[in-house]
Amino acid sequence: MAEPGCAGRIHLGPADAFGDRALVPVTVGRRSLLLVRDGERIVATERACPHEGADLSLGRCGGGRLHCPRHLASFNLRDGSVSPGWSFRPLRLFAVEVAPDGLWLTLG
Ligand code: FES
Repeated sequence: MAEPGCAGRIHLGPADAFGDRALVPVTVGRRSLLLVRDGERIVATERACPHEGADLSLGRCGGGRLHCPRHLASFNLRDGSVSPGWSFRPLRLFAVEVAPDGLWLTLG
């Protein structure tokens, strides 16, 4: 789905790549990322949970949060912050643009 590359603006594929799914794993260069659709908004996150590395593509998304399937911490999809009671780092987020020619990821 993704073109090779690890920095800059990267074309991910057609805007309808989600089908009826909310979570779509993608590989960009050597990074395993997760595309997350929350309502009309799409964002990319790292795929491994920053707590103990669970695969967040097996979690669920709702109400502006991504929920980890292992210990059920959740992450704010605006700033990556973790739910109260946890003390590990925020989830890394990456901007996704929905353009007429498809989805574009920006890696800083
Ligand atoms: S591995 Fe995700 S909350 Fe523990």
